[in-house]
Amino acid sequence: MANDREVTLIPGDGIGPEVTEAAVSIVEATGVSIQWERVEAGSDVFQKYGSAMPEGVLNSIRRTRVALKGPIGTPIGDGFKSPNVALRQSLELYACVRPVASIPGVPSRYEDVDLVIVRENTEGLYSGLEHRVAPGVVESLKIVTEAASLRIARYAFELARRERRSRITAVHKANIMKLSDGLFLECARRVAVDYSEIAFEEIIIDNCAMQLVSDPRRFDVLLLDNLYGDILSDLCAGLVGGLGVVPGSNIGEDCAVFEAVHGSAPDIAGKRLANPCALILSASQMLRYLGEDAAANRIESAVRETLADTRHHTRDLGGSATLDDITTSVRDKLG
Ligand code: NAI
Repeated sequence: MANDREVTLIPGDGIGPEVTEAAVSIVEATGVSIQWERVEAGSDVFQKYGSAMPEGVLNSIRRTRVALKGPIGTPIGDGFKSPNVALRQSLELYACVRPVASIPGVPSRYEDVDLVIVRENTEGLYSGLEHRVAPGVVESLKIVTEAASLRIARYAFELARRERRSRITAVHKANIMKLSDGLFLECARRVAVDYSEIAFEEIIIDNCAMQLVSDPRRFDVLLLDNLYGDILSDLCAGLVGGLGVVPGSNIGEDCAVFEAVHGSAPDIAGKRLANPCALILSASQMLRYLGEDAAANRIESAVRETLADTRHHTRDLGGSATLDDITTSVRDKLG
C-alpha cells in the first residue's frame, strides 16, 4: 500500500456525516492509527463548486488508495449525474461486494442467510448514455463488454475460493437481452471452467428475486450486472434486517472505497436516528483490506453483541435507541 494508513473520508449527504462520524470513532477506539483526509462531495458541494464529485476527491483517493464514504444523494429525473457512479467509473472500482448475513437478535424472516453479492460496478445500464430520440421517445444504452464481464466473473470466483464458498449463481435476463446479458453470462461460463471446485449455476433475475424471498439459504455468491446487483442488494438487505446492517465495498485494482448499501435517508437525516452499523461494518471491511484483521474481528463481534440486545435497536430494527446509543454500545464492547 503506497501511503500506509492514510484514508480518505467522505462524509456525504443526509445521514452520511452522522454515520461516518460514528464509524470513525469506532475505528479510532480499536487503536488502529489512521490519518483521515476529509474531503467533501455531494449536493452541497455541487451548489458551491458545480460538481458533486470534485476532481480533488478523486485525487485524494488516488493518493491514499482507500476511502470510507457516507452516502451521497442524487436528484431524481433531472439535475446532476450520480456522483457515486462517477466515483466508481473514474477509479475503475469494478467490483461491488456486499456480504449479506443474518445477525442473531435482529428481527428478520430468516435466521441463517449467508451470501455475498458481487456486482459489476462500471458499466451496464449505468453507462449514463441516454438521449431523447424524438419527442416522447428516449433511449438508454446498456453497455456490456467482454473485458469487464470476464473481470467481474474472475473476481467472484476468486472471492469464492478465498472465502471457501461453494457456489456461484450468475443472475441474468439473457432470455430477453440476448446479446448484452448473453455476453455477461457467456463470460461467467468461460471463467467457471477454471474453478472446478466451485459449482456454477445460472438463473433468470425474476426467478432469482422470487427464490431469494422464499429460500435465500440456497444462495452463496450472486454474480450480477450493475442494475440487477443494485436492486437485489436492497432486497437481500431486507432479508437480514434492512439497510441499517448491510456493509459494502467497491474494489478496484488500485484503490477501494468502503460504503454501506443504504442511501442518504433524507427522511431521518440530522435526527440521530440512523443505524450506524452498516457503515461501522463497512469500516471493518476496510480494516481487513488494510491488513488489520484483528481490529476488524473486534468490531464485528462488538456489533453482533450490541445487536443481540434489543435495547440497542434503532428505529429501523423496531427499537427506540439512537445512533449515539448504538455507537456507545459498540465502543464499550470492543474489548
Ligand atoms: P435510502 O437507502 O436512503 O433510504 C431508504 C429507507 O431506508 C428510508 O426509509 C431510510 O430512512 C431507511 N434507511 C436507510 N439507511 C438507514 C440507516 N442507516 N438507518 C436507518 N434507516 C435507514 O434510499 P432512498 O430513499 O431510495 O435514497 C435516498 C438518496 O440516497 C437518493 O438521493 C439516492 O440517490 C441516494 N443513494 C445513495 C447511495 C450511495 O451513496 N451509495 C446508495 C443508495 C441511494
